[in-house]
Amino acid sequence: MNDENNKQDIIMSEQEFMNIPNLKMNNEQKIPQVGLGLWMNKDGEACRQSVKFALEAGYRHFDSAQAYDNEQFLGEAIKKGGVPREELFITTKILNDNQWWNDIIPSFEKSLENLQTDYVDLLLLHFPVTETRRPAWRRMEEIYKSGRAKSIGVSNYMIHHLEELLKEGDIKPAVNQVELHVFLQQPELVKFCQKNDIVVEAYSPLAHGNGMDDPVLASIAKKHGKSTAQIMIRWCIEMGTVPLPKSTHQGRIKENIDIFNFKLDKQDMADIAKLDRDFRTCWDPTHVP
Ligand SMILES: NC(=O)c1ccc[n+]([C@@H]2O[C@H](COP(=O)([O-])OP(=O)(O)OC[C@H]3O[C@@H](n4cnc5c(N)ncnc54)[C@H](OP(=O)(O)O)[C@@H]3O)[C@@H](O)[C@H]2O)c1
Repeated sequence: MNDENNKQDIIMSEQEFMNIPNLKMNNEQKIPQVGLGLWMNKDGEACRQSVKFALEAGYRHFDSAQAYDNEQFLGEAIKKGGVPREELFITTKILNDNQWWNDIIPSFEKSLENLQTDYVDLLLLHFPVTETRRPAWRRMEEIYKSGRAKSIGVSNYMIHHLEELLKEGDIKPAVNQVELHVFLQQPELVKFCQKNDIVVEAYSPLAHGNGMDDPVLASIAKKHGKSTAQIMIRWCIEMGTVPLPKSTHQGRIKENIDIFNFKLDKQDMADIAKLDRDFRTCWDPTHVP
């Protein structure tokens, strides 16, 4: 975001690979500002291939989850990909059913085994499950202190869930991963997170493939010589968030990261602001107590 609300410093990675910036999280760890989304990519061959395409295109950040049934394919592909582990940023998420006190740690250890790694860069609670999320965060803190997750965070948390966590937790979440795109802009939530130094990850930044024929986006895309998808992803960057676009196609994987050689101007941002229509494609955690 280009205004005073942006509390995250943008810093370049050592490699400056493909000029993908990093954001600094509240624990001083860095997060590459675009990651490859891996939901609905559970065919082994297709998943390994998309990770390979992404590594070749310059992605270093991969967003998996226990629920996606593809941690093992991601693990295999990165092992084969030849990029040193310390240059990668790997996220997984605790499945809702694994949030129980006795289940989190064994399930996390299984994730490490699947991913063929000793640590993840980011571990998230996938959803603010009412019955389990508060003790579950204690377990997340234990994992963080053990060094097996370099950062911990949450997903699908609304402001009231974050307020509870900020009050009760010892360790602040580094990230909140939520559905965020031009048709679901969630300005209050983004502002709250940024004010509290929590990085917002934008899941479904392409609105899960919906609305790509929008005429306003098409006209902005034409003006910049970019695709509608690139405008949607770039908007997430302008908002100071970390978009996680998903594709299994090589051309689109490349296209979705080719967004650091242009900027949206004030008029573009004003026009896109008017597209917000509270359109959700995934879970709605708004009324989860
Ligand atoms: N934490 C959570 O609860 C949660 C929930 C949902 C998603 N996520 C994360 O966010 C990631 C992205 O979200 P998403 O998978 O819902 O959807 P998305 O990235 O918003 O959209 C993906 C869809 O857009 C298509 N697409 C991708 N690039 C394109 C391009 N350049 N031009 C035209 N179409 C394009 C893809 O098709 P092809 O694959 O055929 O190219 C796919 O149908 C997930 O994979 C996951 O990692 C997290």
